[in-house]
Amino acid sequence: MCGIMGYIGKREAWPIVMTGLKRLEYRGYDSAGVGTIYKNRLRVAKQVGHLSALDRSYPEGLPGNVAIGHTRWATHGGITQENCHPHVDPGRLVAVVHNGIIDNAEEIKEALQKEGASFRSETDTEVLAHLIARELEEGRASSLVEAVRAALLRIHGTAGILVLSRLEPEVIVAARIGSPVVLGISDEETFIASDPSALVGHTTRIVFLDDSEVAEITARGFRTIDLQNRLREKRVEQIEFAPDEIALQGYRHYMLKEIAEQPAAIDRTLRGRTDMTSGTARLGGLKELGRRIFDFGRITLFGCGTSLHAAGVGQFLMERYARIPAGAEDAAELRSRNPIVSQDNLYVAISQSGETADVLSTLREIKMRGGMVAGITNMVGSSIARETDCGVYIHAGPEISVASTKAFTSQVTALSLMALLFARMRDLPAHEGREWVGGLNDASNEVHAMLVHRDRIKALAEEYCRSQYVMFVGRGISYPVAREGALKLKEIAYIPCDGLSGADMKHGPLSLIEQDSPVWAIVPPDETRERMVGNLQELKARGAAILAVAAPEDEEVARLAQFVIPLPPHHPACSPLLTVVPLQLFAYYAAVALGRNIDKPRNLAKSVTVE
Ligand code: AGP
Repeated sequence: MCGIMGYIGKREAWPIVMTGLKRLEYRGYDSAGVGTIYKNRLRVAKQVGHLSALDRSYPEGLPGNVAIGHTRWATHGGITQENCHPHVDPGRLVAVVHNGIIDNAEEIKEALQKEGASFRSETDTEVLAHLIARELEEGRASSLVEAVRAALLRIHGTAGILVLSRLEPEVIVAARIGSPVVLGISDEETFIASDPSALVGHTTRIVFLDDSEVAEITARGFRTIDLQNRLREKRVEQIEFAPDEIALQGYRHYMLKEIAEQPAAIDRTLRGRTDMTSGTARLGGLKELGRRIFDFGRITLFGCGTSLHAAGVGQFLMERYARIPAGAEDAAELRSRNPIVSQDNLYVAISQSGETADVLSTLREIKMRGGMVAGITNMVGSSIARETDCGVYIHAGPEISVASTKAFTSQVTALSLMALLFARMRDLPAHEGREWVGGLNDASNEVHAMLVHRDRIKALAEEYCRSQYVMFVGRGISYPVAREGALKLKEIAYIPCDGLSGADMKHGPLSLIEQDSPVWAIVPPDETRERMVGNLQELKARGAAILAVAAPEDEEVARLAQFVIPLPPHHPACSPLLTVVPLQLFAYYAAVALGRNIDKPRNLAKSVTVE
């Protein structure tokens, strides 16, 4: 997704905006640009390629204490100099940077061209620059904020935008339609970005724009209106993470840093939320549910990608321990089926970024039909966090790498707390609750014990990184973990692979196995172990090279596998927190061995804010 960053205040704007854009690089992009106002003149610097290319083209930057910047992830139009943002109108009255897609851009462009307008780019954003400028040139708008509001009323689609005008050099106008925009408030300076991580180190006081809001921003503050020109009061929130949390801290890549941070992240997710005496969980964010927890006849968890796999673990926990029928659904698929929303169904939206468009639109659909939606997110104040009825923040700290790792284990931890709470409000006896609390409290040490095998997993990754195909197999609570391991490997090492249930092998996938086919097998000492051993025998008989995650004392697995990553003793409900770690490391080291772009894999973005 595109990144946007703006600054207006007492300091030179270029370095601040460029640093902010660098913090947003993880979102993936192919070109960049910055626009400034200096001595009432609008100036724009653009460059295809990474920010370093823009730096080289403009080593002195552009002067001015007001600027807007953009990293572009091409949607409309190729990766060309003309298509870089900011886009300006022919009269160079305004400059616009945009994150989102304007669905009716072509229709508006044709109408403007019939009136004689000329366009330089293939983008939808340039249409917006024309619309805003015309509102000012033709006297319909008396201010930039009014011109932006009027222009936005004419478009359909999504738009997180920042706008500058040489007519109002002390103002930046920001607007949010679908694509997130957040303001950072400080003394005599204001920052604007597409996500809070670009503001870290400048301020901890932030304001999230809501959908269909337009903000008129100066160095001294801001004013917000909606598209009907009604004033909107906004709450200033505090973001949690500190500058050092988004620094690499000596790691080669954010992904490895975030894999290593998992024990600390799990402890942060648990902090203040376990009650050993009563053997239950304390989740203040779910108090809205109150006694309705007794009434829920079903729990539907939904998300995308890694968050969908966390939902899969949540489904298992809800059914196995809370004895509540549960389902895990891809957010887009759930919405596409015209969902049947019933009052006794609790929905749980899971999203690290809290901005994934498919999840957001599904939760809006469910709420519009009267459904109750809880959220499991990592970003305080994110759209999903604010639009769900209640929820649990996972407090994993900023996750920068596109490949989600610590968010997965923290989401699973939060879902474990939720399942424990529901289970203890139903049939789970206190002593079993206390065992589970003990298991959760030990989880971070057990994950540490898994990280110790980093070097052996690195060697395995280097041995198998040239494989044409890798299979991941698990059953029960380990089936979503197998899927997550496959997603990690495919998304950063670009190796074709599948995450399968062991039960599925004989229904087809076994045909893929030939001599030395690498297969990761997740075989914790739980109720699935015996059948998984059966799967290993089938695989071994066909020549597979089995890499297993199992108990060290499991001699049968040791006999069948090329290699076993030993599991420390753990509570069965916590096994995904441990078994996923070798798979994350395997994907990471395979990608390093293949020279991939670890934190910004091709074609992907950290937060998919378009459907
Ligand atoms: C996971 O490694 C991917 N980056 C991707 O599948 C991600 O999990 C998905 O886009 C959902 O993101 P979210 O958790 O922020 O909603």
